[in-house]
Amino acid sequence: MNSFTLSQSASLCAKNEYGMSKKALSAAPRVIPQQRTERFAPLITTRKASTVCVLSPDRPVQTTTQPAVPLTPKQREPLISREAVQSLEAELDNGESVKALRRFNDILANLSEEKWNDRMWMVWNELAHNLESFNPIFTAVMLKVQCTIGHSDYVRRDECLRNLIQPLAGEYGMHNDEAMGKTHRKLFSEFYTSCTGASLEELLEAEVPTPNSQQLFACMMRDVSSGGQCIDGIEQASYALGYNLAVEYLAAYEKTWLLDSFRSLDQRFLQQQKRDVEWMFLEIHAIGEPEHAEIGHQGVVNFVPKAHEEVLRRAMLDHDRDFAQFYNRLADLLC
Ligand SMILES: [Fe+2]
Ligand SMILES: [Fe+2]
Repeated sequence: MNSFTLSQSASLCAKNEYGMSKKALSAAPRVIPQQRTERFAPLITTRKASTVCVLSPDRPVQTTTQPAVPLTPKQREPLISREAVQSLEAELDNGESVKALRRFNDILANLSEEKWNDRMWMVWNELAHNLESFNPIFTAVMLKVQCTIGHSDYVRRDECLRNLIQPLAGEYGMHNDEAMGKTHRKLFSEFYTSCTGASLEELLEAEVPTPNSQQLFACMMRDVSSGGQCIDGIEQASYALGYNLAVEYLAAYEKTWLLDSFRSLDQRFLQQQKRDVEWMFLEIHAIGEPEHAEIGHQGVVNFVPKAHEEVLRRAMLDHDRDFAQFYNRLADLLC
């Protein structure tokens, strides 16, 4: 079994742990809020008392009725509100990354054929590394939440993790109620080849450094794996969840605008070059990232205590800063 197959197998086992084998999640949030539906509208197709059975080998089955179980202290701790998280997301709408993504896409959409031939390969090289680098980030975020075992509430932790696993499994071609699909690495490779006529493997085998993506990756891993350097484990998990939300929220802008830019390039010269662009990679991300952002949002409101709002904000702005730097540097490569 090669390492890639191992990744897929590990992800599949993890999925089953959260009730997502081949059957739909019973309570999985698939609803995209009105606000987000409007923002990405062109791309979203939309897809008391309890009775307890007491079993004992020595006694017949007894059925007893008990009063509702009182909440534990952990369950009584108030969680952050949806409104508070939305106001943090609004800061990202006006943040550094959105400006950098707009700058990059304005340059890309209007790129000359000459620069496409001479410079774009550096951006492809950086993107190939960058897009894969989010997978270990998602894994690190999950680990931070899982490591609150024994400290956070059992049910809240479980629900939160069930949200987090879905976008990560999707990276390896696994979605609820669907046959195994292509991995996102495979889709990216096909997209690259359709646009350039070259093989992604050849580009990667050249081992040209990707300093900008590596820098971003180092920042992301430093921040998430240290839990924002918080002392308390649950605070660290709150930080990781805020970071994850910022990643997914900004990815919605990123992929939506990348799709627009490549459509522009297609009209301007790719069709004349007889390139038959394979749109699947960009289209599924442009549709899927707003859903991921909603899932990340749901993970936050299922787990993060109200008292950790500032931790959440710090995490989101940390990613906003570093992601903006990455895209500004990609824009510089094309100038
Ligand atoms: Fe992806
Ligand atoms: Fe995503």
